[in-house]
Amino acid sequence: MIRLGINVDHVATLRQARGTVYPDPIEAARLAIRGGADQITLHLREDRRHIQEHDLRRMRRELATELNLEMAANEEIATIACEVKPDTATLVPERRQELTTEGGLDVASNSGRISEHVARLKAAGIRVSMFIDPDAHQVKACAAMGVPAVELHTGAYCDAASAESAAAELERLIVAARIAKKFGLVVCAGHGINYDNASGLAKALPEVVEYNIGHAIVARAVFAGMEQAVREMKGLLNVVRGS
Ligand code: PXP
Repeated sequence: MIRLGINVDHVATLRQARGTVYPDPIEAARLAIRGGADQITLHLREDRRHIQEHDLRRMRRELATELNLEMAANEEIATIACEVKPDTATLVPERRQELTTEGGLDVASNSGRISEHVARLKAAGIRVSMFIDPDAHQVKACAAMGVPAVELHTGAYCDAASAESAAAELERLIVAARIAKKFGLVVCAGHGINYDNASGLAKALPEVVEYNIGHAIVARAVFAGMEQAVREMKGLLNVVRGS
């Protein structure tokens, strides 16, 4: 069964847009779990544009489900992570002006700085994953650093403007997923996945054991409700593997 992590950031985006206390991302997480979510994913950004520190702390306290904290390789957030201890910390690049995480973390060029954060998180008992572009040299850099997992950035494939570029991006993902598995890494994937492209990805990438999906599910939840939106996505990912 493919694991599904539900990213609830955009429930908090809606709350922050009006400075209210609703909608509550933890309530969304509870409904997502009822719909079949295997983990709750959330990104505590330096600019705190959606998830707040109190959301993270409450989720850790109130939910029994696995928590995957997306975070920049940054001193302040690492300190919070080491205190709250999510099950997984996924290191992502972060730029202030971006609408969402735009590219993968360049582990290959920044291994010195990143490995310090990895060591600190590991010492706190947190599993570390790296959100990387589907490139062999990035996968190898992660394996060399000794992290147990990678999350392959599916955005370029999902947002491809033509069938040709989609095919090329899918090929990159296929190759990167195979290499990651060969290195013994747990292979996850995410970004830009929606109800139209999820099944195709799951079919093309048998090495991927976990998807983290947010925007499309929160958008679907507006009409169908969170529980149903998650159930539908879990079905789409798993139907291709017959589980
Ligand atoms: N995985 C990572 C590492 C991300 O940064 C994001 C976006 O926050 C997602 C998955 C989910 O992407 P989307 O919201 O496009 O489904």
